[in-house]
Amino acid sequence: MSEEEITLIIQAFVDAAIQAKQLGFNGIEIQGAHGYLVDQFFWDKTNTRTDRYGGDLIKRTQFATELIQAIRTAVGPDYPIAIRLSQWKMSDYYVKPLDTPEKLEQFLHVLVQAGIDIFHCSTRRFWEPEYEGSELGFAGWVKKLTGKPTIAVGSVGLDDEFTSLYTEGKGAGHKDLDDLLHRLDQQEFDLVAVGRALLADPAWAVKIRDGRVNEIQAFSPESLATLL
Ligand SMILES: Cc1cc2nc3c(=O)[nH]c(=O)nc-3n(C[C@H](O)[C@H](O)[C@H](O)COP(=O)(O)O)c2cc1C
Repeated sequence: MSEEEITLIIQAFVDAAIQAKQLGFNGIEIQGAHGYLVDQFFWDKTNTRTDRYGGDLIKRTQFATELIQAIRTAVGPDYPIAIRLSQWKMSDYYVKPLDTPEKLEQFLHVLVQAGIDIFHCSTRRFWEPEYEGSELGFAGWVKKLTGKPTIAVGSVGLDDEFTSLYTEGKGAGHKDLDDLLHRLDQQEFDLVAVGRALLADPAWAVKIRDGRVNEIQAFSPESLATLL
């Protein structure tokens, strides 16, 4: 991507943010996870640039920080900007580019300085410890290191791992939410995002709220087929 193209792309993100605000949305979220464009700049395996958008960890945040600053200038100081982050990539579930809390802190610091308010911390299983020696998951570490509100996501309400849903049709039943609720009580993270459990049962959140956990629907073969 040329520098001119980068400028155009940033402007397109800014235009989208302005439109979202004008339409009445309460905030916006930048997709910076899973190997999408912003994440391609973050990761040294995909960012081999030798200009100011490539190089060490901090230099690889240059595209994101310019993007965040441009959106912040356009939407004003009081409009929430979230960013979705993940260690894993669609091309590699097991990669962990930020392999120490110190690297994660350096990385997050520049994003906070640029204007991020909320971190949406994408994992495949929210309960898995991010680093040895602590039970904290990715969202827990990000909150601890930044003090910012964080969103946890990854197999909330599901029994098994992400891929087995496709390969074996497992992972679709609901599991108890005690660990999730405990972590919320401990303020490990502030918000919870739910994906597939809601696809299986659109009334999932209402049933949780009303204590009707036993009525939650698992995936049926028909609903599973809609995901494939
Ligand atoms: C069929 C499917 C498509 C997805 N597509 C996207 C996507 O385009 N962008 C994205 O950020 N996440 C995508 N995800 C990931 C979800 O946003 C979410 O992080 C993931 O499903 C974990 O939440 P869950 O375990 O509650 O489903 C997708 C997930 C599924 C199952």
